[in-house]
Amino acid sequence: MAPGRLFGLLVAVALALQAYAQLPVVVSHSIEVNITVPPFKVDQDDAYICVSALLPPHPHKLVGIIPHAKQEVVHHILLYGCTEPHMASKDGKPVAWRCDMKPVCNGPSSTILYGWGRNAPDLRLPEGVGFSVGERTGVKYIVAQVHYLKVRPPDDHSGVTLLLKPHAVPYAAGLVSFASWFTIPPGKKSHPIVNTCCYKGYEALTMFAVRVHTHGLGRRVFMTRETWNKTGTEELVSRDPQLPQSFVPTTRHTIWPGDRLTVTCLFDSSSKTAPVNAGGTHNDEMCNMYTMVYGKTPYLTMCDNNVQDIRDDSPGALPRHSTLVVDPMPNWRPPAPAGTPGDALGAEAVGDATSVTTGPDGTLWVLYRASGVWKSDTFDRKEVITRKEPVPEAVVLNMNPDTGKILARWGADVFYLPHSISVDQYGNVWVVDVGRHQVLKFDSKGKQLLVVGKDRQPGAGKDKFCKPTQVAVLRDGSFIVADGYCNSRVVWFDKTGKYIAESGAIKAVVHGVLVDECEGLVYVASREGRKVVALDITDTKKRLQLKATYDMAAAGHGQVWALRFGPYGEQLALTWDEGKDAHLVNVRFPTQFWTLPGTAKLSPHDFTLGGAATELSGAGDRFFSVYLASVGVACDTKCGALHKFVVVPTGFKLPAQWELETAVAVPSKAKDVKPGDAKELPHGAVAANHTANVVAKAIAKGVPAPAKPPAGEEEDEGGAMVADDYDEDVEDDTEDAEDYENTKKVLDEEMEAEEEAMADYEEMITGVRPNTTHDKGELVPLDKERYQVLMQDKKAATKTMGSGWANVLVVVLVLALTVISVYYARATLMHYIQSITVSSSNPGGSGAGIKGGPSAGASTPAGGGLRKTFGAWASAAEGLLGRFSGRGGAAAAAGLAGTTGAGGAKRSTAEVEAARERERLLRSGP
Ligand SMILES: *[C@@H]1O[C@H](CO)[C@@H](O)[C@H](O)[C@H]1NC(C)=O
Ligand SMILES: *[C@@H]1O[C@H](CO)[C@@H](O)[C@H](O)[C@H]1NC(C)=O
Ligand SMILES: *[C@@H]1O[C@H](CO)[C@@H](O)[C@H](O)[C@H]1NC(C)=O
Ligand SMILES: *[C@@H]1O[C@H](CO)[C@@H](O)[C@H](O)[C@H]1NC(C)=O
Repeated sequence: MAPGRLFGLLVAVALALQAYAQLPVVVSHSIEVNITVPPFKVDQDDAYICVSALLPPHPHKLVGIIPHAKQEVVHHILLYGCTEPHMASKDGKPVAWRCDMKPVCNGPSSTILYGWGRNAPDLRLPEGVGFSVGERTGVKYIVAQVHYLKVRPPDDHSGVTLLLKPHAVPYAAGLVSFASWFTIPPGKKSHPIVNTCCYKGYEALTMFAVRVHTHGLGRRVFMTRETWNKTGTEELVSRDPQLPQSFVPTTRHTIWPGDRLTVTCLFDSSSKTAPVNAGGTHNDEMCNMYTMVYGKTPYLTMCDNNVQDIRDDSPGALPRHSTLVVDPMPNWRPPAPAGTPGDALGAEAVGDATSVTTGPDGTLWVLYRASGVWKSDTFDRKEVITRKEPVPEAVVLNMNPDTGKILARWGADVFYLPHSISVDQYGNVWVVDVGRHQVLKFDSKGKQLLVVGKDRQPGAGKDKFCKPTQVAVLRDGSFIVADGYCNSRVVWFDKTGKYIAESGAIKAVVHGVLVDECEGLVYVASREGRKVVALDITDTKKRLQLKATYDMAAAGHGQVWALRFGPYGEQLALTWDEGKDAHLVNVRFPTQFWTLPGTAKLSPHDFTLGGAATELSGAGDRFFSVYLASVGVACDTKCGALHKFVVVPTGFKLPAQWELETAVAVPSKAKDVKPGDAKELPHGAVAANHTANVVAKAIAKGVPAPAKPPAGEEEDEGGAMVADDYDEDVEDDTEDAEDYENTKKVLDEEMEAEEEAMADYEEMITGVRPNTTHDKGELVPLDKERYQVLMQDKKAATKTMGSGWANVLVVVLVLALTVISVYYARATLMHYIQSITVSSSNPGGSGAGIKGGPSAGASTPAGGGLRKTFGAWASAAEGLLGRFSGRGGAAAAAGLAGTTGAGGAKRSTAEVEAARERERLLRSGP
């Protein structure tokens, strides 16, 4: 038997289909999808052609893009990620259309993933970084928009090749984009257009590549950030827009929540005699910057004339329709309280987990109480702690967020009753000790750097606290202390610990603080008041004055225990009443909340948000996890511990336990990847080359293509690691060999079924059903090794898809995956209208900002923050959707929708229109 014949056959089928349908070719464990403009007559200058490509029917990671175009022919290519392209026929056939004046995607959720211009080279994302694309991600389709300069040459095959990986990578690529509306006066040598937004998020992002875009007048496009010490600005990125306008790798910069980023374009209009407007044609100008970033979860936003457009349906948003479940990962083993199963630490037991937070490196910091249990006699009548010695156990633990493995542990003989832990952007660790009535700052190794308050002396005023609860650190090193159980206030200190200001009375217990530097506010948890209050931190004359109150009780929630940021910087509160499950509540829109199951019998005390293990989502967007620190007040002392939940979007099914156990047993190297540099490859595509070579070889010899990536691919460790691990594992696995004999038959049947499915697909596209009967006699099983690799791959794939795909083998699946065929209609040729409509229509009622002026900034402390209509502080005026609309008119409309609760709100027509307008603006022009 020739073991490779089936594979050879499949490749042959693939190639045959490719003749008319541009099929993705599988090379080892990556897939290439070609998007090529079909033989479509373009007999006018300046035509925009869009080609939509339906992506594979399960998630993949987009890790590289290879352009095929020449600048003499093509002005630019932009790739948009869509949930729905502007044109897709009902039967799912891909289409091409003239998209000069038409939107690229339907609905507002389109994302520019890539841009090419001026013979820019290929782009590879850094190792371990990828965009999640494909079915069940935010990007179901990719639409390539190709702008032809002149009449299209007859032999033109312009397009792009997408490099996709079928498995998880540890970091999610995202985009922070900037675009402006403006008018440039004539006769200026260097006219600046400025666009500022503040980064609202829950985790630090790393910027790794940038693309700038202007037309002919642009001379420089640069991004600056206000320095954390507030001494001025620092330049992060600068680029000449007349150079190739593709994504180019940049120096890495970490963007921290609260960072105000400003993009400035300098234009030379000295040759002009009339004003130049923003728009899409030769005669207009643009001022765009796209920065590629990565984090654990994707972050995609647009800064649109000083307004950050944040969407609740963006990839990376906390899914509104979702369920929190206890983390099912078998390797999640945080230290357990003494006497409970899993208590491996014995005398060093950790006791209650009182507080949890995430450091800038993504690791978890947990504060335990160990023997520092809070009982009725812990404090005397004067609020002095009765304990005579500090807690002897080391209570500060640094952990791996996926496994709970302890990375560092310190803090013995320091604390009397540890209460909360915070980590600042430099990695300093801050602990608030209720027993010591102090706030203590340490470096990450536990060296004490600063202490505020008097040791074990309760009090008030500028140098004492009374049972303080939490501290929040600003980027300039100043900090705000929640004080606490007996004083009803928050107090602000500079970075040296010098008193700056304090708030008026807030109903006790003041249990948590969250600083939002984008909004210029500190949010304070009033626990028994069941409220969150927002205080001013920008107006020096009104420091810590009340700006807003959010009533959690009125929305049916319990006591407010802790505050943290959500994925797009929304303020989340942990609310809980004894005997009821805790809620995570969107503070400003409290009808939106998530329930933490099984927490009624715990005593939830603090929480933090993180990314869930990649085993749960595979190549799809990483799920969120919620870490919950719980103390033993409401139960016996054994129930306080660190708990972990996973936020599972409705419709997703987590992998079965055995699959997770398998995945954990074969750990992926992916987790340890530290992203390297993004790579610019020489134009001409190494990957396309090796595809051709591998396939050619396979055909010629009738043997399977190598399971490991060929040389050109090997450096891409971020991609191939899962597959490599499987390959190694497969060698020794004797059990599989027996299974193999038994399942050969099943495999054959599945192959046949797949071939039928493929024929269906072909018939759909071409109208002709291929002859599938001829192969019957020749179907031969794969050799053992290949089969096992495929089975492993299948597991990896089905894991992300739920049981519905259980019968699908990946190699065959790939055949059926995506046939990127170009079906197109000869579109009615539209006259190329010189003036695009961006300057005449201003959707969404955001009139104030249309000239790009500082109107938003002037009326708000956070110009460029989340909302333009910032003035309306009364929570009553705020609808559920207000936060997502970010726009005046739409926000008002959405306010009504908000009252319908977490489920029902839909985007208004105005918003959709606004999004389309933005899209038109963003579309690069000549
Ligand atoms: C993709 O397109 C390029 C350029 O047109 C071509 O060289 C390559 O063979 C194609 N690859 C596939 C998988 O179709
Ligand atoms: C402020 O921060 C910037 C950028 O980080 C740095 O270059 C500058 O030296 C700092 N200034 C002071 C006074 O610390
Ligand atoms: C592609 O393959 C050809 C021949 O195999 C080789 O000469 C060429 O250098 C390769 N191109 C790249 C970019 O590796
Ligand atoms: C399909 O192929 C087989 C084998 O080559 C042949 O015997 C049969 O006649 C073909 N059927 C049709 C409908 O062409």
